[in-house]
This record gives sequence, C-alpha cells and structure tokens, in this order.
Amino acid sequence: MLIRVEIPIDAPSIDTLLRQVFGDESADRVRNLREDGLLTLGVVATDDEGQVVGYVAFSPVMVAGEDRQWVALSPLAVKTALRGQGIGKQLVYEGLDSLNEFGYSAVVTLGSDELYQHLGFQPAAPYGIRCAQAEMDTTLQIYPLAEDALNGVHGLVEYAEYFKGV
Ligand SMILES: CC(C)(COP(=O)(O)OP(=O)(O)OC[C@H]1O[C@@H](n2cnc3c(N)ncnc32)[C@H](O)[C@@H]1OP(=O)(O)O)[C@@H](O)C(=O)NCCC(=O)NCCS
Repeated sequence: MLIRVEIPIDAPSIDTLLRQVFGDESADRVRNLREDGLLTLGVVATDDEGQVVGYVAFSPVMVAGEDRQWVALSPLAVKTALRGQGIGKQLVYEGLDSLNEFGYSAVVTLGSDELYQHLGFQPAAPYGIRCAQAEMDTTLQIYPLAEDALNGVHGLVEYAEYFKGV
C-alpha cells in the first residue's frame, strides 16, 4: 500500500472508487473541482497494481467572505474490502501534513462527527464558525494547522459552488 499525492493519471481510478463508495454525484463533484483547478490537494492510497483503493481531497473554502487559506476535506473514501486497516487515517494525516507544509491555515469538514473527532478535529461552532448551509451547522468540524488560525475569526464557511445542495 502506497500513500501519496494524487497525480493526473490517477483520475480515472479515483473516479471509479468514488462511484463505488458514494455514487455519481461525489465522483462528478471531484472531477468538476479538478477541472476547475479547485482541488487544493488529493491524496491516494494505491495497491500493488497501482489502483486507487483510498482517496481524500481538499478544496478551498471562504471564511466570512475572505480567503484565509482554509480548505475543506471532502470526500474521504476507502474501498470496502480494505477498511479497518488504518488507510483512512493515513490518508487524512498525510493530507494534513502536506497542507501544513504548504502553509494552509485550517481544515474543515462535514460528515461523521465521531470519525473526524477521533482523528483530531473539533466542533467549529464553539468558535463561532458555521457552515453557510444552515442545516449543516451541527456537523462542521475544524482542524487548525496554524497556531493563530482561529484568532479573531468567526462567521460563515462557504464551500465551493459544487458542494451546494450537499
Ligand atoms: C470512513 C472510512 C474512510 C474509514 O476508512 P478506514 O480505512 O476504514 O479507517 P481506518 O481504518 O483508518 O480507521 C481510523 C480510525 O477511525 C476509526 N473509525 C473508522 N471509521 C469510523 C467511523 N465511521 N466512526 C468513528 N470512528 C471510525 C477506526 O476505528 C480507527 O480507529 P483507531 O485509529 O483507534 O484504530 C471508510 O470506512 C469509508 O470509506 N466509508 C464510507 C465513506 C465515508 O463514510 N466517508 C467518511 C465520511 S464523509
């Protein structure tokens, strides 16, 4: 198993994995983000044949109307047969490490509170940080990368247009 940054030839294999795990909408969203240059970072887990068996992507978000070098983690997927072996965790941590090195300030995510808090994320709401889509407020989680990421920052986090209606 190899964990590494996504490269262009991975795209069809990523697409297949996302269609299997989440369905067409998620796969199409990632393809659109990539085509529009809105994939800040993609990390893949590949098997011995080079097939993508795990994937995590990060895309830019606006915070209170400003670009603060925050990104959203979505989607995160591991092939069904290979779950429970630490691949998901390695993908997320590799992504966080790389983003930290690149100088990004914070990572937000929506979805499984239990999973992401287990991986070190914390609820964003107590910091006055909410998701632009009101119904998602309760599940917005944050992982600050920079020490001052949360200083004086509050307001709405806005995902890229392709996430509208998620
Ligand atoms: C969620 C998913 C990516 C996890 O991948 P995985 O390779 O099985 O995860 P790991 O084996 O790395 O697990 C990492 C840790 O998280 C825990 N964990 C895994 N899934 C979890 C969940 N849904 N809720 C809470 N904890 C979870 C594991 O117990 C493990 O704990 P440990 O570090 O103490 O051993 C995978 O199950 C998946 O693709 N699911 C379908 C899509 C999905 O739900 N994506 C994420 C939410 S949007």
